Amino acid sequence: MTDLNPLGRKGIVLAGGTGSRLFPITKAVSKQLLPVYDKPMVYYPISTLMLAGITEMLVITTPDDADAFQRLLGDGSAWGVRFTYAVQETPAGLAQAYTIADDFLAGNPSVLILGDNLFYGSGFSEQLQERSASQRGCLFAQQVADPERYGVVAFDDSGNPTTIVEKPATPPSNWAVTGLYFLPADAPAAAATLTPSARGELEIADLNQIYLDRQELDVARLDRGFAWLDTGTFNSMVEASEFVRVIEARQRLKIGSPEEVAFRMGHISASDLAALAEPLKASGYGDYLAALANG
Ligand code: DAU
Repeated sequence: MTDLNPLGRKGIVLAGGTGSRLFPITKAVSKQLLPVYDKPMVYYPISTLMLAGITEMLVITTPDDADAFQRLLGDGSAWGVRFTYAVQETPAGLAQAYTIADDFLAGNPSVLILGDNLFYGSGFSEQLQERSASQRGCLFAQQVADPERYGVVAFDDSGNPTTIVEKPATPPSNWAVTGLYFLPADAPAAAATLTPSARGELEIADLNQIYLDRQELDVARLDRGFAWLDTGTFNSMVEASEFVRVIEARQRLKIGSPEEVAFRMGHISASDLAALAEPLKASGYGDYLAALANG
């Protein structure tokens, strides 16, 4: 089997934050543990990293939510991966993930995914694995109707990315930066040079700008046939759940099931999968996994 992760790239799942746009739902529960249809939100980004060939992941949570994440995810061995946990004391910005992850990364390149981002589209696994194996950094952008809600990419006349602006009042394009960032090994050092923005955060846009200026960062455009959903508001939560429900019912295939990905990636055997399915049978999720294990 080819080595899917020749650079030893490690994953970071950023699942902290206050979730204040979903108050009061998130006053007592982490946003990234809320359901997106039939599974916790964080299963989707974890599945995405697994499809990229990543097996070592740091899960960053708030101090209050750390226990719940560990209860849900454990050490990862059931899925053939390894989870390490870290806390972010206060939500001081997405780029802080890299300084928190410095020891964990131990000089390896990384891929950061936001715990509330859901990616779904044909051919994405191959694209992820290619990017994972490249020394260059890569962001993924997609056209959106409301770019002012996101990090936005400005392009020059030849279509090359020049700048990334966070939540611009007047967006330079409608290409939003998704919450998936492949960065080179020195990202923690680069993040350590950042200073807080006017809104008091260490901005991921500023970190990415460093790599754009060094010409070490690509911006891959996800085409219209690709679904990128975030779950930042009441409406986008419902829309994401409905999207997953419709596709899963139509195809009888699940989106974002880490157990399934572990099996398809060869991390676990059919009998391992059958054993994982057993305690989940009451919800129907287990029946799906059991059927998969039986071929
Ligand atoms: O979803 C993609 C967008 O994500 C990008 O286009 C933006 O450039 C990027 O800044 C981010 O925008 P958001 O408005 O979604 O950022 P938010 O502050 O809501 O944080 C995103 C997730 O990260 C959220 O689930 C909470 C978590 N978080 C956030 C901060 C600021 C942390 O875990 N720690 C933090 O310090």
